[in-house]
Amino acid sequence: NKVTVVLGTQWGDEGKGKVVDLLATEADIVCRVQGGNNAGHTVVVKDQIYDFHLLPSGIINKDCKAVIGNGVVSQHSGVVQEFGFPPGLTWWKENLIVSDRAHIVFSFHQQIDGLLEAMKGHGKLGTTKKGIGPTYSSKAGRMGLRVSDLVGSEAGFETKFRALAELYQQQFPDLQIDIEAQLELYKGYKAQLQPLVKDVVHYMNEEINSTEKKRILVEGANATMLDIDFGTYPYVTSSNCTVGGVCTGLGIPPNSVGDVVGIVKAYTTRVGSGPFPTEQQNSIGQTMQKVGHEFGVTTGRLRRCGWLDLMIVKYSHVLNNLTSIAVTKLDILDGFDEIKIGVAYKHNGKTLPLFPASLEILSEVEVDYVTMPGWSVPTSECRRYEDLPVNARNYINKIQEILQV
Ligand SMILES: *[C@@H]1O[C@H](CO)[C@@H](O)[C@H](O)[C@H]1NC(C)=O
Ligand SMILES: *[C@@H]1O[C@H](CO)[C@@H](O)[C@H](O)[C@H]1NC(C)=O
Ligand SMILES: *[C@@H]1O[C@H](CO)[C@@H](O)[C@H](O)[C@H]1NC(C)=O
Ligand SMILES: *[C@@H]1O[C@H](CO)[C@@H](O)[C@H](O)[C@H]1NC(C)=O
Repeated sequence: NKVTVVLGTQWGDEGKGKVVDLLATEADIVCRVQGGNNAGHTVVVKDQIYDFHLLPSGIINKDCKAVIGNGVVSQHSGVVQEFGFPPGLTWWKENLIVSDRAHIVFSFHQQIDGLLEAMKGHGKLGTTKKGIGPTYSSKAGRMGLRVSDLVGSEAGFETKFRALAELYQQQFPDLQIDIEAQLELYKGYKAQLQPLVKDVVHYMNEEINSTEKKRILVEGANATMLDIDFGTYPYVTSSNCTVGGVCTGLGIPPNSVGDVVGIVKAYTTRVGSGPFPTEQQNSIGQTMQKVGHEFGVTTGRLRRCGWLDLMIVKYSHVLNNLTSIAVTKLDILDGFDEIKIGVAYKHNGKTLPLFPASLEILSEVEVDYVTMPGWSVPTSECRRYEDLPVNARNYINKIQEILQV
């Protein structure tokens, strides 16, 4: 069996949840492999609105196992909160699997997120202060605590917890940690989590190598341009959001990855600071913001908006070798007279071969656009490609033609 991966190809908020939910109705297993519970997405099923922050959205499908891989950093108070939500999902206990190798986000990681952000002042990255970055720092610094520590011996957990908390208290004199209260709290979480904890490396190996057909889906969090190595560093998240993160975040070999579906929003959005070549700080961008409801699930922050930038999506294809793309939110472009697509970057008169590493260069590029005629008829009720007005079909075809996906 191979794993099907769904990834965001831009700066996030492409609407992955819609596609994942569609595929999850036919999946046996849905996995999360990186990120934490800052990665929010909304799924609407009939009249119910689900805002997920940590649990794979496959959890809404009764016959589907939901796996939280080792690459995810989880805040267990958050897991326990999401356990009770949404109401009516009573089967999660049998369906949720948490890796024993996943690292734990503590509330002091969240405080540190805030302290670091305050210290950085103007250079701040606009993180969601969920402690995700500091937890990956603890992990890379080889002092983090894993789920296996939590469900292991109490004495072992306590020793490691005290060591980490005391180290951070020395580093950050303003940091207040009530160590005894935290230890007590985690004793409670332990009982709730223990039944869900598995060796996910072994579990995935059995499922992938099973002679029975298993449909396995990986739901990416964040997106290619937020990848810590390949994104617009330092305006990125703290994990690997590109396809390689699927192997390291779940414990599966590269040749177990099958289809890689790239989610492409029909225009581009970005949260927080950093260069954004196709940004429209004008009525076009404002229309996209308003019609597209471009504000964060977790934060409520407004997203910056601009034309579709295929330099970004092409780069994403090079990194992930997409087998197909799904274009979302096309209807938000209904009613524009003209629609532009960014197809190349010029810097000092030279065309760049690929998306650049340097943000300095990125902030100086000039974008080459192709301009397509828009369509005036509403497309939100279209259910098949053939239902779309011809100009909307041309827009999709242009994307396909340029990307060759
Ligand atoms: C991605 O990560 C960033 C930084 O950690 C966070 O602020 C943002 O909410 C995340 N976005 C999505 C769509 O997952
Ligand atoms: C997969 O299963 C086959 C047949 O049982 C076995 O020979 C092989 O070693 C297994 N591969 C892995 C990576 O577990
Ligand atoms: C991301 O991947 C790179 C390259 O494999 C690795 O060096 C880095 O540790 C990874 N980071 C995280 C947070 O997983
Ligand atoms: C992408 O994957 C296809 C198979 O799906 C393969 O034929 C092709 O060589 C790969 N391209 C790159 C650049 O890895």
